[in-house]
Amino acid sequence: MTPIIAPSLLAADFARLAEAAQAVHADADWLHVDVMDYHFVPNLTIGLPVVQSLRAATDHPLDCHLMIEAPERWAVGYAEAGAYNVSFHVEAAADPIALAKNLRAAGAKAGLAVDRDTPIEPYLELLPHFDTLLIMTIKAGFGGQKFMPEMLDKVRTARRHADAEGLQIRVEVDGGIAADTIEQAAEAGADAFVAGTAVFGAVDPADACRRLRALVS
Ligand code: DX5
Ligand code: ZN
Repeated sequence: MTPIIAPSLLAADFARLAEAAQAVHADADWLHVDVMDYHFVPNLTIGLPVVQSLRAATDHPLDCHLMIEAPERWAVGYAEAGAYNVSFHVEAAADPIALAKNLRAAGAKAGLAVDRDTPIEPYLELLPHFDTLLIMTIKAGFGGQKFMPEMLDKVRTARRHADAEGLQIRVEVDGGIAADTIEQAAEAGADAFVAGTAVFGAVDPADACRRLRALVS
């Protein structure tokens, strides 16, 4: 599958999100939206009203990454708000398959997210129910952390499994993705790349997207 570049708005100016979206309009495939609830992770970011406003402000597919407790209570709302993909964390979900079905029924792609300290093997059997698998390459909660190459073993395992089973699933990496790390993630089997600091921390976010894409195309 062609690589997806998904700039994370977490690294943008929160008072100027529409401008940030506009800045990468021609060069980003998805806009990654990090929803944090101060409980699942010790950080608090943006929620449903902001996603609803973003939906009206940009035509980018919105890739909502829910780092929240009780996703079964909130995730479908993001799908109904027009999110393209809604990822929730396996560590937080009581019934991941049921929630994936509900997300798809609400018109979104269903994403399963796996945090740094969670092994992938116990969850491989869930993958037929999902469109995307987000593998954290840092500990979820904050942008600007150092990429952890040892997380790529999970990417390799997931990609091998998906290929063997003939699953059409995107494997997305999130955390510390930049010009010096994106190629190793792609070689491991990732085909969607979230980048916060590397895009919105750059002087020219659009150019940063183009450079990242060139490294994996
Ligand atoms: C962190 C978020 C990431 C974050 C990545 O928990 O899930 O999406 O924006 O930021 P960088 O690219 O700066 O590591
Ligand atoms: Zn994220």
